[in-house]
Amino acid sequence: MTEDTAYMERALELAAMALGRTSPNPLVGAVVVRDGEIVGEGYHQKAGTPHAEIHALRQAGEKAKNAVLYVTLEPCCHYGKTPPCTDAIIRAGIKKVVVAVKDPNPLVAGKGIQALKDAGIEVSLGMLEARARRLNEAFFKYMVERRPFVTLKAAMSLDGKIATSSGDSKWITGAEARAYVHRLRAENDAIMVGIGTVLADDPLLTVRLPGEDRKPLRLVVDSGLRIPLTSRLVRTAREVPTVVAAVKGKCQAEKKEKLESAGVEVWELPEKEGRVGLCSLLEELGKRGVLSVLLEGGSTLNAAALAAGIVDKFIFFYAPKIIGGKGAPGPFGGTGINLLKDALEVAELSWERIGADLMLVCYPVKPAKE
Ligand SMILES: NC(=O)c1ccc[n+]([C@@H]2O[C@H](COP(=O)([O-])OP(=O)(O)OC[C@H]3O[C@@H](n4cnc5c(N)ncnc54)[C@H](OP(=O)(O)O)[C@@H]3O)[C@@H](O)[C@H]2O)c1
Repeated sequence: MTEDTAYMERALELAAMALGRTSPNPLVGAVVVRDGEIVGEGYHQKAGTPHAEIHALRQAGEKAKNAVLYVTLEPCCHYGKTPPCTDAIIRAGIKKVVVAVKDPNPLVAGKGIQALKDAGIEVSLGMLEARARRLNEAFFKYMVERRPFVTLKAAMSLDGKIATSSGDSKWITGAEARAYVHRLRAENDAIMVGIGTVLADDPLLTVRLPGEDRKPLRLVVDSGLRIPLTSRLVRTAREVPTVVAAVKGKCQAEKKEKLESAGVEVWELPEKEGRVGLCSLLEELGKRGVLSVLLEGGSTLNAAALAAGIVDKFIFFYAPKIIGGKGAPGPFGGTGINLLKDALEVAELSWERIGADLMLVCYPVKPAKE
Protein backbone atom coordinates (compact mmCIF):
# COMPACT_ATOMS: atom_id res chain seq x y z
CA MET A 1 0.00 0.00 0.00
CA THR A 2 1.38 3.43 -0.89
CA GLU A 3 1.29 6.25 1.62
CA ASP A 4 -1.32 7.91 -0.56
CA THR A 5 -3.71 4.95 -0.35
CA ALA A 6 -3.17 4.74 3.41
CA TYR A 7 -4.64 8.26 3.74
CA MET A 8 -7.64 7.27 1.65
CA GLU A 9 -7.99 4.10 3.74
CA ARG A 10 -8.14 6.32 6.80
CA ALA A 11 -10.76 8.54 5.13
CA LEU A 12 -12.88 5.43 4.37
CA GLU A 13 -12.48 4.25 7.95
CA LEU A 14 -13.66 7.64 9.22
CA ALA A 15 -16.64 7.63 6.84
CA ALA A 16 -17.77 4.23 8.14
CA MET A 17 -17.95 5.59 11.69
CA ALA A 18 -21.34 7.10 10.86
CA LEU A 19 -22.83 3.89 9.42
CA GLY A 20 -26.60 4.11 9.67
CA ARG A 21 -26.66 7.76 10.71
CA THR A 22 -26.39 9.81 7.52
CA SER A 23 -29.33 8.68 5.37
CA PRO A 24 -30.49 10.17 3.01
CA ASN A 25 -26.95 11.53 2.74
CA PRO A 26 -23.91 9.37 1.93
CA LEU A 27 -21.14 8.36 4.32
CA VAL A 28 -18.10 10.54 3.69
CA GLY A 29 -14.68 10.77 5.32
CA ALA A 30 -11.89 13.28 4.76
CA VAL A 31 -8.26 13.63 5.75
CA VAL A 32 -6.00 16.71 5.35
CA VAL A 33 -2.30 15.90 4.94
CA ARG A 34 0.60 18.35 4.98
CA ASP A 35 4.26 17.37 4.69
CA GLY A 36 3.42 13.72 5.29
CA GLU A 37 1.46 14.40 8.45
CA ILE A 38 -2.30 14.17 9.03
CA VAL A 39 -3.34 17.62 10.23
CA GLY A 40 -7.11 17.28 10.02
CA GLU A 41 -9.71 14.51 9.97
CA GLY A 42 -13.45 14.43 9.75
CA TYR A 43 -16.54 12.57 8.67
CA HIS A 44 -20.14 13.40 7.92
CA GLN A 45 -21.94 12.50 11.11
CA LYS A 46 -25.61 13.07 10.37
CA ALA A 47 -27.80 14.49 7.59
CA GLY A 48 -28.13 18.27 7.94
CA THR A 49 -24.82 18.68 9.82
CA PRO A 50 -21.45 19.79 8.33
CA HIS A 51 -19.85 17.60 5.68
CA ALA A 52 -16.65 15.60 6.25
CA GLU A 53 -14.43 18.12 4.44
CA ILE A 54 -15.58 20.95 6.72
CA HIS A 55 -14.73 19.01 9.89
CA ALA A 56 -11.30 18.08 8.50
CA LEU A 57 -10.54 21.63 7.33
CA ARG A 58 -11.61 23.09 10.67
CA GLN A 59 -9.31 20.73 12.51
CA ALA A 60 -6.44 21.55 10.16
CA GLY A 61 -6.96 25.32 10.52
CA GLU A 62 -4.03 27.28 9.06
CA LYS A 63 -2.22 24.01 8.27
CA ALA A 64 -4.70 23.39 5.45
CA LYS A 65 -2.77 25.88 3.32
CA ASN A 66 -0.91 24.01 0.55
CA ALA A 67 -2.07 20.69 2.02
CA VAL A 68 -3.62 17.68 0.24
CA LEU A 69 -7.21 16.72 0.98
CA TYR A 70 -8.25 13.04 0.66
CA VAL A 71 -12.00 12.63 0.44
CA THR A 72 -14.07 9.50 -0.16
CA LEU A 73 -16.72 11.24 -2.31
CA GLU A 74 -16.56 14.19 -4.68
CA PRO A 75 -17.04 17.42 -2.70
CA CYS A 76 -20.39 19.12 -3.20
CA CYS A 77 -20.69 22.39 -5.08
CA HIS A 78 -24.33 23.28 -4.40
CA TYR A 79 -26.30 24.75 -1.53
CA GLY A 80 -28.18 21.99 0.28
CA LYS A 81 -28.71 22.12 4.02
CA THR A 82 -25.11 23.33 4.24
CA PRO A 83 -23.02 25.59 1.92
CA PRO A 84 -20.84 24.10 -0.85
CA CYS A 85 -17.72 22.29 0.35
CA THR A 86 -15.81 23.31 -2.79
CA ASP A 87 -15.92 26.97 -1.61
CA ALA A 88 -14.49 26.00 1.78
CA ILE A 89 -11.73 23.90 0.17
CA ILE A 90 -10.75 26.79 -2.14
CA ARG A 91 -10.81 29.31 0.73
CA ALA A 92 -8.64 27.05 2.90
CA GLY A 93 -5.86 27.08 0.29
CA ILE A 94 -5.78 23.32 -0.35
CA LYS A 95 -3.40 22.59 -3.25
CA LYS A 96 -4.58 19.11 -4.24
CA VAL A 97 -7.73 17.06 -3.73
CA VAL A 98 -7.70 13.27 -4.05
CA VAL A 99 -11.24 11.96 -4.59
CA ALA A 100 -12.21 8.28 -4.39
CA VAL A 101 -15.39 8.45 -6.44
CA LYS A 102 -17.57 10.90 -8.32
CA ASP A 103 -20.86 11.84 -6.64
CA PRO A 104 -23.77 10.17 -8.51
CA ASN A 105 -26.10 12.97 -7.35
CA PRO A 106 -27.03 14.82 -10.57
CA LEU A 107 -26.66 18.11 -8.66
CA VAL A 108 -22.94 17.35 -8.25
CA ALA A 109 -21.80 14.57 -10.70
CA GLY A 110 -18.47 16.03 -11.77
CA LYS A 111 -19.37 19.67 -11.16
CA GLY A 112 -17.64 19.65 -7.78
CA ILE A 113 -14.41 18.42 -9.35
CA GLN A 114 -14.72 21.00 -12.12
CA ALA A 115 -15.21 23.83 -9.60
CA LEU A 116 -11.99 22.82 -7.84
CA LYS A 117 -10.06 22.58 -11.10
CA ASP A 118 -11.40 25.99 -12.19
CA ALA A 119 -9.92 27.40 -8.99
CA GLY A 120 -6.51 26.01 -9.95
CA ILE A 121 -6.57 23.04 -7.55
CA GLU A 122 -5.08 19.76 -8.78
CA VAL A 123 -7.65 16.95 -8.60
CA SER A 124 -7.08 13.22 -8.85
CA LEU A 125 -10.05 10.84 -9.11
CA GLY A 126 -10.50 7.09 -8.57
CA MET A 127 -8.32 6.08 -5.60
CA LEU A 128 -9.93 3.04 -3.87
CA GLU A 129 -13.03 3.75 -5.95
CA ALA A 130 -14.61 0.28 -5.69
CA ARG A 131 -14.46 0.38 -1.90
CA ALA A 132 -15.84 3.89 -1.80
CA ARG A 133 -18.77 2.83 -3.98
CA ARG A 134 -19.50 -0.21 -1.80
CA LEU A 135 -19.43 1.93 1.32
CA ASN A 136 -22.32 3.94 -0.13
CA GLU A 137 -23.95 1.18 -2.17
CA ALA A 138 -27.50 2.18 -1.19
CA PHE A 139 -26.88 5.86 -1.93
CA PHE A 140 -25.39 5.05 -5.35
CA LYS A 141 -28.37 2.90 -6.32
CA TYR A 142 -30.91 5.39 -5.04
CA MET A 143 -29.35 8.35 -6.81
CA VAL A 144 -29.54 6.56 -10.13
CA GLU A 145 -32.72 4.48 -9.82
CA ARG A 146 -34.70 6.29 -7.09
CA ARG A 147 -35.42 2.87 -5.54
CA PRO A 148 -34.00 1.45 -2.32
CA PHE A 149 -31.11 -1.00 -2.12
CA VAL A 150 -32.37 -4.35 -0.81
CA THR A 151 -30.23 -6.56 1.44
CA LEU A 152 -31.62 -10.03 2.08
CA LYS A 153 -30.54 -11.51 5.39
CA ALA A 154 -31.10 -15.11 6.41
CA ALA A 155 -29.85 -17.28 9.26
CA MET A 156 -29.50 -21.00 8.76
CA SER A 157 -27.69 -24.19 9.68
CA LEU A 158 -24.67 -25.37 7.68
CA ASP A 159 -27.01 -27.53 5.61
CA GLY A 160 -29.13 -24.50 4.75
CA LYS A 161 -32.13 -25.03 7.04
CA ILE A 162 -33.93 -22.10 8.68
CA ALA A 163 -35.99 -24.36 10.96
CA THR A 164 -36.45 -28.03 11.80
CA SER A 165 -39.15 -30.02 10.01
CA SER A 166 -41.40 -29.48 13.04
CA GLY A 167 -40.92 -25.71 12.72
CA ASP A 168 -38.55 -25.10 15.65
CA SER A 169 -36.36 -22.13 14.66
CA LYS A 170 -35.32 -20.28 17.83
CA TRP A 171 -32.46 -19.85 17.80
CA ILE A 172 -30.26 -21.25 15.08
CA THR A 173 -27.45 -18.70 15.32
CA GLY A 174 -25.77 -17.46 18.49
CA ALA A 175 -26.14 -14.25 20.48
CA GLU A 176 -23.33 -12.41 18.63
CA ALA A 177 -24.88 -13.02 15.21
CA ARG A 178 -28.26 -11.91 16.50
CA ALA A 179 -26.73 -8.74 17.92
CA TYR A 180 -25.07 -8.18 14.55
CA VAL A 181 -28.52 -8.31 12.90
CA HIS A 182 -29.59 -5.45 15.18
CA ARG A 183 -26.64 -3.46 13.85
CA LEU A 184 -27.75 -4.25 10.30
CA ARG A 185 -31.23 -3.05 11.17
CA ALA A 186 -29.80 0.21 12.50
CA GLU A 187 -27.89 0.71 9.23
CA ASN A 188 -31.01 0.36 7.07
CA ASP A 189 -33.91 2.76 6.54
CA ALA A 190 -36.53 -0.02 6.55
CA ILE A 191 -36.94 -3.63 7.66
CA MET A 192 -39.26 -5.81 5.61
CA VAL A 193 -40.95 -9.15 6.35
CA GLY A 194 -43.84 -11.17 4.95
CA ILE A 195 -47.10 -11.64 6.84
CA GLY A 196 -46.20 -15.34 7.28
CA THR A 197 -43.33 -14.34 9.56
CA VAL A 198 -45.54 -11.97 11.55
CA LEU A 199 -48.15 -14.70 12.07
CA ALA A 200 -45.53 -17.30 13.01
CA ASP A 201 -43.15 -15.27 15.16
CA ASP A 202 -44.93 -12.05 16.19
CA PRO A 203 -41.62 -10.13 15.80
CA LEU A 204 -40.93 -6.58 16.99
CA LEU A 205 -38.40 -5.75 14.25
CA THR A 206 -36.84 -2.98 16.31
CA VAL A 207 -33.20 -2.09 16.88
CA ARG A 208 -32.25 -3.32 20.31
CA LEU A 209 -28.70 -2.21 20.95
CA PRO A 210 -27.40 -0.24 23.92
CA GLY A 211 -27.25 3.49 23.12
CA GLU A 212 -28.88 3.08 19.70
CA ASP A 213 -31.99 5.16 19.08
CA ARG A 214 -32.58 4.55 15.37
CA LYS A 215 -36.08 3.47 14.45
CA PRO A 216 -36.08 2.13 10.90
CA LEU A 217 -39.47 1.81 9.24
CA ARG A 218 -41.04 -1.62 9.83
CA LEU A 219 -42.73 -2.94 6.73
CA VAL A 220 -44.99 -5.97 6.38
CA VAL A 221 -46.19 -7.22 2.99
CA ASP A 222 -49.67 -8.44 3.67
CA SER A 223 -51.95 -8.47 0.62
CA GLY A 224 -55.27 -8.80 2.46
CA LEU A 225 -54.50 -7.19 5.84
CA ARG A 226 -54.25 -10.44 7.81
CA ILE A 227 -52.02 -8.81 10.42
CA PRO A 228 -53.58 -9.25 13.89
CA LEU A 229 -54.47 -6.04 15.76
CA THR A 230 -52.95 -7.75 18.79
CA SER A 231 -49.57 -8.33 17.13
CA ARG A 232 -46.55 -6.66 18.72
CA LEU A 233 -45.97 -4.68 15.54
CA VAL A 234 -49.43 -3.11 15.68
CA ARG A 235 -49.31 -2.59 19.42
CA THR A 236 -46.07 -0.62 19.13
CA ALA A 237 -46.94 1.28 15.94
CA ARG A 238 -47.28 4.57 17.82
CA GLU A 239 -43.65 4.38 18.96
CA VAL A 240 -42.02 2.89 15.85
CA PRO A 241 -43.06 3.76 12.27
CA THR A 242 -44.95 0.79 10.83
CA VAL A 243 -46.32 0.24 7.34
CA VAL A 244 -48.46 -2.59 6.06
CA ALA A 245 -48.29 -2.90 2.28
CA ALA A 246 -51.47 -4.45 0.94
CA VAL A 247 -53.10 -5.02 -2.44
CA LYS A 248 -55.40 -2.29 -3.68
CA GLY A 249 -59.01 -3.46 -3.55
CA LYS A 250 -58.17 -6.41 -1.25
CA CYS A 251 -58.35 -4.47 2.02
CA GLN A 252 -61.35 -4.55 4.23
CA ALA A 253 -62.16 -0.88 5.04
CA GLU A 254 -62.94 -1.62 8.68
CA LYS A 255 -59.62 -3.45 9.30
CA LYS A 256 -57.74 -0.71 7.51
CA GLU A 257 -59.33 1.93 9.75
CA LYS A 258 -58.53 -0.05 12.88
CA LEU A 259 -54.91 -0.43 11.85
CA GLU A 260 -54.66 3.25 11.04
CA SER A 261 -56.13 4.29 14.34
CA ALA A 262 -53.50 2.09 16.02
CA GLY A 263 -50.82 4.16 14.23
CA VAL A 264 -50.11 1.81 11.31
CA GLU A 265 -49.81 3.30 7.84
CA VAL A 266 -51.57 1.17 5.23
CA TRP A 267 -50.36 1.39 1.64
CA GLU A 268 -52.64 0.02 -1.05
CA LEU A 269 -50.49 -1.02 -3.99
CA PRO A 270 -50.98 -2.68 -7.39
CA GLU A 271 -50.95 -6.47 -7.29
CA LYS A 272 -48.75 -8.97 -9.08
CA GLU A 273 -50.28 -12.45 -9.32
CA GLY A 274 -52.69 -11.58 -6.51
CA ARG A 275 -50.00 -10.41 -4.08
CA VAL A 276 -48.30 -7.11 -3.35
CA GLY A 277 -46.29 -6.09 -6.44
CA LEU A 278 -42.74 -5.89 -5.12
CA CYS A 279 -41.51 -3.51 -7.83
CA SER A 280 -44.40 -1.11 -7.09
CA LEU A 281 -43.53 -1.40 -3.42
CA LEU A 282 -39.90 -0.42 -4.05
CA GLU A 283 -41.04 2.54 -6.13
CA GLU A 284 -43.30 3.70 -3.32
CA LEU A 285 -40.48 3.33 -0.80
CA GLY A 286 -38.21 5.32 -3.09
CA LYS A 287 -40.77 8.12 -3.35
CA ARG A 288 -40.81 8.31 0.42
CA GLY A 289 -37.04 8.66 0.63
CA VAL A 290 -36.22 5.13 1.82
CA LEU A 291 -32.73 4.34 0.50
CA SER A 292 -32.17 0.92 2.01
CA VAL A 293 -34.24 -2.10 3.02
CA LEU A 294 -33.22 -5.11 5.11
CA LEU A 295 -35.35 -8.05 3.99
CA GLU A 296 -35.68 -10.52 6.84
CA GLY A 297 -37.87 -13.19 5.24
CA GLY A 298 -39.60 -15.54 5.46
CA SER A 299 -38.88 -17.98 2.72
CA THR A 300 -41.98 -17.24 0.62
CA LEU A 301 -41.20 -13.53 0.44
CA ASN A 302 -37.48 -14.21 -0.05
CA ALA A 303 -38.25 -16.42 -3.05
CA ALA A 304 -40.61 -13.83 -4.51
CA ALA A 305 -38.01 -11.09 -4.03
CA LEU A 306 -35.42 -13.23 -5.79
CA ALA A 307 -37.78 -13.98 -8.67
CA ALA A 308 -38.64 -10.28 -9.01
CA GLY A 309 -34.91 -9.46 -9.20
CA ILE A 310 -35.12 -6.88 -6.42
CA VAL A 311 -32.34 -8.26 -4.18
CA ASP A 312 -29.07 -6.31 -4.35
CA LYS A 313 -27.06 -8.07 -1.64
CA PHE A 314 -27.17 -11.21 0.50
CA ILE A 315 -26.01 -11.63 4.08
CA PHE A 316 -26.17 -15.27 5.16
CA PHE A 317 -25.40 -16.42 8.67
CA TYR A 318 -24.40 -20.07 9.00
CA ALA A 319 -24.51 -21.73 12.40
CA PRO A 320 -22.03 -24.58 12.93
CA LYS A 321 -24.75 -27.22 13.16
CA ILE A 322 -26.60 -29.59 10.87
CA ILE A 323 -30.37 -29.90 11.07
CA GLY A 324 -31.28 -32.27 8.23
CA GLY A 325 -34.75 -33.44 7.28
CA LYS A 326 -36.42 -33.38 3.89
CA GLY A 327 -39.24 -31.24 5.22
CA ALA A 328 -37.04 -28.69 7.02
CA PRO A 329 -37.28 -25.35 5.15
CA GLY A 330 -34.45 -23.37 3.58
CA PRO A 331 -34.28 -19.59 3.19
CA PHE A 332 -35.93 -19.65 -0.24
CA GLY A 333 -39.35 -21.23 -0.71
CA GLY A 334 -41.40 -20.95 -3.86
CA THR A 335 -40.95 -23.41 -6.69
CA GLY A 336 -37.25 -22.76 -7.32
CA ILE A 337 -35.77 -23.54 -10.72
CA ASN A 338 -35.69 -26.71 -12.82
CA LEU A 339 -32.33 -26.39 -14.45
CA LEU A 340 -29.03 -25.60 -12.80
CA LYS A 341 -28.13 -23.29 -15.63
CA ASP A 342 -30.93 -21.00 -14.37
CA ALA A 343 -29.49 -20.72 -10.84
CA LEU A 344 -28.79 -17.22 -9.63
CA GLU A 345 -25.06 -16.67 -9.52
CA VAL A 346 -23.47 -14.59 -6.81
CA ALA A 347 -20.11 -12.84 -6.72
CA GLU A 348 -17.83 -10.75 -4.49
CA LEU A 349 -18.02 -13.30 -1.68
CA SER A 350 -16.53 -12.35 1.65
CA TRP A 351 -16.92 -13.97 5.04
CA GLU A 352 -16.09 -13.51 8.67
CA ARG A 353 -16.69 -15.24 11.99
CA ILE A 354 -19.38 -13.65 14.17
CA GLY A 355 -19.13 -15.45 17.51
CA ALA A 356 -19.44 -19.15 16.70
CA ASP A 357 -21.22 -18.48 13.40
CA LEU A 358 -20.05 -17.66 9.92
CA MET A 359 -21.32 -14.58 8.08
CA LEU A 360 -21.15 -14.69 4.31
CA VAL A 361 -21.78 -11.56 2.24
CA CYS A 362 -22.27 -11.68 -1.53
CA TYR A 363 -23.97 -9.95 -4.41
CA PRO A 364 -26.21 -11.36 -7.14
CA VAL A 365 -24.75 -11.26 -10.62
CA LYS A 366 -27.39 -9.33 -12.48
CA PRO A 367 -27.78 -9.67 -16.22
CA ALA A 368 -26.38 -6.63 -18.02
CA LYS A 369 -29.12 -4.19 -19.00
CA GLU A 370 -29.64 -3.96 -22.79
N1 LIG B 1 -34.17 -18.10 9.86
C1 LIG B 1 -34.52 -16.95 9.31
O1 LIG B 1 -33.63 -16.17 8.91
C2 LIG B 1 -35.98 -16.57 9.20
C3 LIG B 1 -36.30 -15.24 8.92
C4 LIG B 1 -37.65 -14.91 8.78
C5 LIG B 1 -38.63 -15.88 8.92
N2 LIG B 1 -38.30 -17.14 9.22
C6 LIG B 1 -39.35 -18.17 9.36
O2 LIG B 1 -40.09 -18.23 8.14
C7 LIG B 1 -41.44 -18.60 8.42
C8 LIG B 1 -42.38 -17.68 7.68
O3 LIG B 1 -42.12 -17.74 6.31
P1 LIG B 1 -43.31 -17.87 5.26
O4 LIG B 1 -42.66 -18.29 4.01
O5 LIG B 1 -44.39 -18.70 5.84
O6 LIG B 1 -43.90 -16.41 5.20
P2 LIG B 1 -43.31 -15.02 4.72
O7 LIG B 1 -42.38 -15.17 3.59
O8 LIG B 1 -42.88 -14.24 5.92
O9 LIG B 1 -44.65 -14.32 4.21
C9 LIG B 1 -45.24 -14.77 3.04
C10 LIG B 1 -46.56 -14.09 2.84
O10 LIG B 1 -46.36 -12.72 2.49
C11 LIG B 1 -47.45 -12.30 1.73
N3 LIG B 1 -47.02 -11.58 0.54
C12 LIG B 1 -47.51 -10.41 0.09
N4 LIG B 1 -46.97 -10.06 -1.05
C13 LIG B 1 -46.08 -11.01 -1.37
C14 LIG B 1 -45.25 -11.22 -2.48
N5 LIG B 1 -45.16 -10.34 -3.48
N6 LIG B 1 -44.52 -12.32 -2.52
C15 LIG B 1 -44.56 -13.22 -1.52
N7 LIG B 1 -45.34 -13.10 -0.44
C16 LIG B 1 -46.11 -11.99 -0.37
C17 LIG B 1 -48.22 -13.54 1.31
O11 LIG B 1 -49.41 -13.60 2.09
P3 LIG B 1 -50.70 -12.86 1.50
O12 LIG B 1 -50.98 -13.52 0.20
O13 LIG B 1 -51.72 -13.00 2.54
O14 LIG B 1 -50.28 -11.46 1.29
C18 LIG B 1 -47.30 -14.67 1.69
O15 LIG B 1 -47.98 -15.84 2.05
C19 LIG B 1 -41.61 -18.50 9.90
O16 LIG B 1 -41.68 -19.78 10.43
C20 LIG B 1 -40.36 -17.80 10.38
O17 LIG B 1 -39.99 -18.25 11.65
C21 LIG B 1 -36.99 -17.51 9.35
